[in-house]
This record gives sequence, C-alpha cells and structure tokens, in this order.
Amino acid sequence: MKSKTLEILKKAMKNKTAVGAFNTSNMEVTQAIVMASNELKKPCIIQSTSSTVEYTFETIGDLVCSNIEKLGKDTKIGFHLDHGHRLHDIVKAIDLGMDSVMIDASRALLKDNIDITKKVVEYAHSRGVAVQAELGKVPYLGKEKLDINWEEIMTDPDEAKRLVDETGVDALAIGIGNAHGFFREKSEPDWARLEAINAKLPDTPLILHGASDWEGEKVKKAIKLGINAFNIDTDVRIAFCSAICKVSSDKHCEVTDPRKILEIAREDVKKVVKQKIEMFLGK
Ligand code: G3H
Ligand code: 13P
Ligand code: ZN
Repeated sequence: MKSKTLEILKKAMKNKTAVGAFNTSNMEVTQAIVMASNELKKPCIIQSTSSTVEYTFETIGDLVCSNIEKLGKDTKIGFHLDHGHRLHDIVKAIDLGMDSVMIDASRALLKDNIDITKKVVEYAHSRGVAVQAELGKVPYLGKEKLDINWEEIMTDPDEAKRLVDETGVDALAIGIGNAHGFFREKSEPDWARLEAINAKLPDTPLILHGASDWEGEKVKKAIKLGINAFNIDTDVRIAFCSAICKVSSDKHCEVTDPRKILEIAREDVKKVVKQKIEMFLGK
C-alpha cells in the first residue's frame, strides 16, 4: 500500500517515536502545518473532518494537496480523514485525495464496530488508502456526562486485538483516559492498559486523540509504551483564534487588509505546530 500516512506511522513505530496529526479547516492553518513540517524537515499528518469537507464546499482536498505539493518539498506529510462516521464520509474523503481515513464507530457495539470497519477496510485498501479505527470512547465536552466512569469507556486490550484481527485495520485510536478538547481527562492515564494493548498489537500503530494538553514526561511515557501519533485540534484552533482576536480587538485597529491579520495567525499556528512536532519525537 502506498499510503503516506501509513508509511509515516510505520516508520514512527519502527523508530519508537511519534508524529503529530494536526487538524485543519482553512488555508492559513494548512500552510502553517505544512511549513512547520517542511522547515523542520520532520514528517507529520494533516487531517480534516467531514464537517470541514462540508464547510469548505469540498475544496479542502485540493487546498491541502496543492499546499503539500508546493510548500512541503523537504518533508513527508500524510493527508487523513479524522472521525469519519459513515461510509459516505469515507468515499468522499478518498475522492478528495486523502490517503488515510478514520472510521469512528467507537460509540457502537463491538460487533457493529467490526462490521463497518471491515467494510471500510475493504473499500479503502482496494484504493491504496489506509484505515484507522477507534475502540474505547474518547469523550467530548457536551457529548458525555461529566462524571464519567473511565473503566467503562477505556479500550479493552482483548477487544482491540479482536477488532484488528477481524478487520485488517491499519491503525487504532485508543482510550486510556484521554479526552477531546476541554473535557477533563482521567487524572492519570491508564499506563498498564496502554502497555497491554501494545503487547497484543505490536505491529499496529496506536493513535492518541485529544492530545492538545499532553506534554513533557506524559508524552515521553506514552511514546515509550506504544503511542505513534498524537491528534491535535484544540491547540491549533486556540492559536489561530487568539491571534485574530488580539489583532482585531485592538481599539485602534485600522487594518483593512485581511492578510495583515491572517498572516499573524498563520505564524502563531506554525510556532505551535513546530513545538509539538519536536515534542512528539520524544527526545
Ligand atoms: O476530534 C475532532 C475535532 O476536534 C472535531 O472537529 O469540529 O471539525 O468536526 P470538527
Ligand atoms: P484535541 O481537540 O483535544 O486537540 O483533540 C483533537 C483530536 O483528537 C482530533 O481527532
Ligand atoms: Zn479525535
């Protein structure tokens, strides 16, 4: 299979390191991610959700592909669908040039998760596209109750092995106490669970969603125990939006050229992405 995303993940796995997988929904964020990776000459994954595909009237595919081609000559960047929920999302993403897709059926019963993941794998693999599944739930603020029972929603290592064996999926997103955005995470990740999942799936890259607030020793330990990619959306959104708010809320702001505002936001996102790419090398 020629999927760049999978090549990047497999190489990270072989080198016992990790990469950042960064969400984009517009041109400046896309350029910031591509330029950060290119300037550091370190690989990364750029990803968009189906809501971004809709928001951009399906132009996100051309936008990301042309920016990688023009601004990413000294690096390797995979293009991935984040949190696809329906077969329709997968078909669309592949048509738009993504070389890897996520089918997130983590809220379904294991049997149904396996069924749909199997269908997606069949469709994607025949087109040279890699597939990420999710097992265990990674909560979102507003979607879950706040007094969460982590034991109930974290990934079961035996079920993870069953899902991978029965579907032939290439990468797996797991839950070890991590959460998206501003949802409060488990006070200490379940390291033993991560170790057990990795021991059962030594050849499957493991993905940690909701990684914006992961740093320092926690990142190093996650990599040591088997994480190969960290998903980042919130920190990129914050960097972009706070730059814009800062410039445009200035009382004396007389800027009438959008580029003068957006280039500041692009630069701030680039700084965040560079710092994360280096941190995820785990050195
Ligand atoms: O985990 C995924 C994203 O943070 C949600 O992204 O607002 O583009 O659907 P979205
Ligand atoms: P954060 O929003 O917590 O950075 O998580 C991003 C993510 O998991 C995208 O799939
Ligand atoms: Zn996610």
